[in-house]
Parts: sequence; C-alpha cells; structure tokens
Amino acid sequence: MLRRHALMGLAGAALAFGFCGSALAEDTVKIGLILPMTGPSASTGREIEAAVKLYMQQNGDKVAGKKIEVITRDDTGQADITKRLAQELVVNDKVAVIAGFGLTPLALAAGPIATQAKVPAVIMAAGTSMIVDQSPFFVRTSFTLPQNTTPMAEWAAKNGIKKVVTLVSDYGPGIDAEKAFKDKFTADGGQVLDSLRAPLRNPEFAPFLQKAKDLKPDALFLFVPSGFGASLMKQVSERQFKEAGIQVIGTGDVLDDEQLNGMGDVVLGMITSMNYSAAHDSPENKKYVADFEKANPNMRPNFMSVGGYDGIGLIYKALEKTGGDTTGTKLLDAMKGLSWTSPRGPISIDPDTRDIVQNVYIRKAEKKDGQIYNIEFATIPNVKDPLHGKK
Ligand code: PHB
Repeated sequence: MLRRHALMGLAGAALAFGFCGSALAEDTVKIGLILPMTGPSASTGREIEAAVKLYMQQNGDKVAGKKIEVITRDDTGQADITKRLAQELVVNDKVAVIAGFGLTPLALAAGPIATQAKVPAVIMAAGTSMIVDQSPFFVRTSFTLPQNTTPMAEWAAKNGIKKVVTLVSDYGPGIDAEKAFKDKFTADGGQVLDSLRAPLRNPEFAPFLQKAKDLKPDALFLFVPSGFGASLMKQVSERQFKEAGIQVIGTGDVLDDEQLNGMGDVVLGMITSMNYSAAHDSPENKKYVADFEKANPNMRPNFMSVGGYDGIGLIYKALEKTGGDTTGTKLLDAMKGLSWTSPRGPISIDPDTRDIVQNVYIRKAEKKDGQIYNIEFATIPNVKDPLHGKK
C-alpha cells in the first residue's frame, strides 16, 4: 500500500511538472540498427555490431548532452523483414536514424520508409551504386562496387593481362562489378571473353569455373559478397587456375578479412582491390584493429566493420553539428560534406550524392606473422563512385 502511494505520488508530481517520461525520452537519441545477425550474411551483422559497440566504448554514449541508445534488430537477410523492422523502429521506437543494411535488397526495402518518415538511413554495408539515388535520406559509409572494381581493371590492363573472364554473384553489386570491370578494362585495351553470373543463394560455382577455365583467359575476375568468399575460393583451388597459368583477381569482398585466414595457401599472391584491409598501415588502423580484437577475441575486423564504425561516427558527428537536434532534414544536412580520418584512410561524404569518397587500395594476399593478410601496395586516392551521373 505504502509503496503504491509513493509511486502514485511520484507519477502525480511528474505529471504536474510535465516531464512524465516524454521529456526524459527526448534526452535520449535512439538509433535503429537493422542487420543480418543470422543467415548466410550473419558475419556482416556481427562485424558491424561489434564495430558500433567499439565506437561507443571509445567515444562514450553521450553526444551534445544526449544519451545515445542503439536498438539492434535482426532482419535475417530478408527484405520483407528489413522493411517491417524499419517501420516499427520509426513508428513505435521513434528512432532518429535507421542504419545497417547488410545487402542491397535490404537497403532498398528501407528506402521508402526513410523517405516518408524523413529519417536519415545510413548504409553501413550494401554496395550497389544506385541505392543512394533511391531515397534523398540515404547516406552511405560502406563502399560501392564500381568504386572498388575500377582500380582493379586499371591495374589488370597495366600489368600484362589482356583477356579476362568475369564471374560475379547475380544481383545488384555483382552486376555493378561486372560492368565497372568491363567498362574500364576494355577502355584500357583489354578484352572480356565472357561475363558469368552465379546465383546468390546456394551457389554452385563449379560449372562456371570450368567454363571460365576452358576459355583460357589471362585472368579470372571474381566478386561474391562478404561471407561467400571461402566457399568460392575452395572451388577455385580445386580447379587449379594457378597451375593452368590463369591469374585469379577480384574485389576484396572475395578475400574478406573475416574469412581470409581460413582460406589457406590457395589465396597467397592473389591481387584484389578494396577500400579496407585489416593490414592497412596507419596509426588509426593499428589502434582500431588492436581495440577491436581485444573486445572481440577470435574476430578480425573486415571492410564491413569499418562501414559500421564510420556509420555510427557519422551519426555522432552530425548530432554534434546540430547541437543534439534530431530533426531528420537537419541531421541529413549535417552529414553532407563531413570528412575525417577513418581506420581505412581519409573519407568524406559527397554532399551531392550522399555517397562515400575514399581511397581504394591494390593488395596482395601474403603471410605475415603466420597469418594471411591483404597487404596494400598501391593507393588510388579519393575515389568517387564512377557510375553516379552516368545513368
Ligand atoms: C550488397 O549486397 O550490396 C553487398 C553485400 C556484401 C558485399 C558487397 C555488396 O561484400
């Protein structure tokens, strides 16, 4: 009885002073983090969640006097679930920002909700070029496939490779990679003998790899999304491309740091291009990798993790700029044009496209201290997505 009276008294006081919870709630900024935590892209979810937690550990959970609360939801990699979760987070939880999006179809499913609710949506993972055109509230901190692929095509043409077969996953980012490679490689005088596409789900690479080998190219160019590289490289190894004198190249998605060490010696010497390697040689990255591995034993940060780390960083920086104002359009404006040094190198958000501008690195898979890493040996600075404005 006593306790009930006391509680009622408290509630009454709260009502009388008009700060019943809503004022308290306003001191908290909620961020909805939608990720595939289960299913075939679960590693993307795990990496991004770990990176977001790390950023908040390092930088605290207060920005401009507001407490940051991240609400993580598992969309299992299915677009209809992403859409429902985005809706719930915006309508019920009243989040100021939605973020995450582990695959292109998942980002696309959230676009209309961001547009309608005028809530910024930070793409931390997906890489198809056209995603940011689908909502004025999309901002990307990951990468685009054309951005990462074009330097690989240029390197191939400059390094004695004349004929290439491409093999990609048959959906948005794969088709972007295929086109970007062909555009640049043929412009530089090379020839693409065939463009092969394997299904995204449960891919059986063997017939495609056999076909590629039979065409006797100088090189085979590969793209599969994060989490699928190990099974592809196992089948590449069984087909003995190296032995047949065919060089295997690709985007760094294939030699994802999360799986790389378990892929074995077949990957040694393989050249890829990408926006991030755990071996990136900078003080910022040394600290990032050390802190990440300390907080997550047996995990190595990959390119998805930096998309998450810089994505939450972008939200913090935007909130600082608005002085804690969470109005969607104000946050979005604050995000445009921001630039800083990430563990991957210098990055910025292009104010016109809301897409990330960053260095792309050419790397060679090598053993270092008994572990396999992608060792960067060339840098292409400040690369913009080359497809924007060209469609
Ligand atoms: C995508 O679905 O956009 C995607 C996912 C994983 C990658 C690259 C692109 O590694």
